[in-house]
Amino acid sequence: MPQIPDNVRGARFIGWGTSLGHTTVTNDDLSKTMDTNDEWIRERTGIHRRHIGGSTAEMSIASGRAAIEMAGIDPLTIDALVLATTTPDRTVPATSATVQHALGLRCGAFDVNAACSGFVYAMITAHGLIAMGSQRILVIGTDSLSRIVDWTDRNTAILFADGSGAAVLERTTGHGQMLGWDLDADGSAEEILYSEVGGFVHMDGKEVFRRAVRIMVDSAQKSMAAAGVTADQLNVVVPHQANIRIITSACDKLGVPMEKVAVVVHETGNTSSASIPLALFGDFGQVRAKDGDLVLMVGFGAGMTAASAVVRWNAQ
Ligand code: COA
Repeated sequence: MPQIPDNVRGARFIGWGTSLGHTTVTNDDLSKTMDTNDEWIRERTGIHRRHIGGSTAEMSIASGRAAIEMAGIDPLTIDALVLATTTPDRTVPATSATVQHALGLRCGAFDVNAACSGFVYAMITAHGLIAMGSQRILVIGTDSLSRIVDWTDRNTAILFADGSGAAVLERTTGHGQMLGWDLDADGSAEEILYSEVGGFVHMDGKEVFRRAVRIMVDSAQKSMAAAGVTADQLNVVVPHQANIRIITSACDKLGVPMEKVAVVVHETGNTSSASIPLALFGDFGQVRAKDGDLVLMVGFGAGMTAASAVVRWNAQ
């Protein structure tokens, strides 16, 4: 378990933004084209509606631009763009290249694919770049999963959707916000959730569910141990928004009451790399955390990846 050195160059969030797919699709809309219904979807997943439409670059540009505007900085002062996505617009080049150009950045840009753990992977990578001397990094998590969903498959079509969340991280004096982190993957579970290049998502929902709770709890506990904090000290928990039953089960095992948990899955569905920033920054105008709060972010996804981080919120 990596320990952050005391003399690390730390970072903090100075701006953020979000974006959703442009078309709202309700559960009733889905029930017109497949054998499902609103009551079943709400009960089994917690999802009421989702938003689809828009490319990964379009949504990333919208959320990235909002984050830069909120930070009030010149885009030329950004030293790198890290875009977490599992649905790039092209195989080559990385979608981050399109976004870098559109936002007027002159810096390194690369994609990170860690499925639904992607934003936390990208955020930890950005902290590493800042520890190595970068001043400002733009981190974006975006997915346009509607393009890889078979819209006749009720097993997956009810779950997945499109969205984006972005944050500008800036070097700060002292240790900064990151207190502990964990990255994990288990490629032996590849077959339970995958999409071939150009194909649709295939999923063994029950097996994903079973493993998801375990790996979320495991990763969160590793981050908390690295940070030297216990669950009762957390103020806000921001889990990957896949299914409300996975969220409640994992938080119950962690000993975190639901009033501390950021939930937007009812509105967004599962937006993969965008899900954690949408829950943290896009809670319909409200940022969940206030200065001084201890925030745990924890994601899991295909791969099967898991990633978590404990940060001390310090955005002012
Ligand atoms: N609408 C209506 N009924 C459905 C349905 C749907 N979309 N999908 C399945 N059913 C029916 C089944 O046919 C079954 O009926 P039966 O009892 O008469 O045989 C019943 O509902 C239960 O099906 P089951 O597959 O056992 O449902 P479940 O409780 O496992 O829920 C998921 C299915 C997909 C919602 C759930 O397994 C899940 O959320 N898994 C995790 C997926 C996930 O998070 N993936 C992304 C990870 S990043």
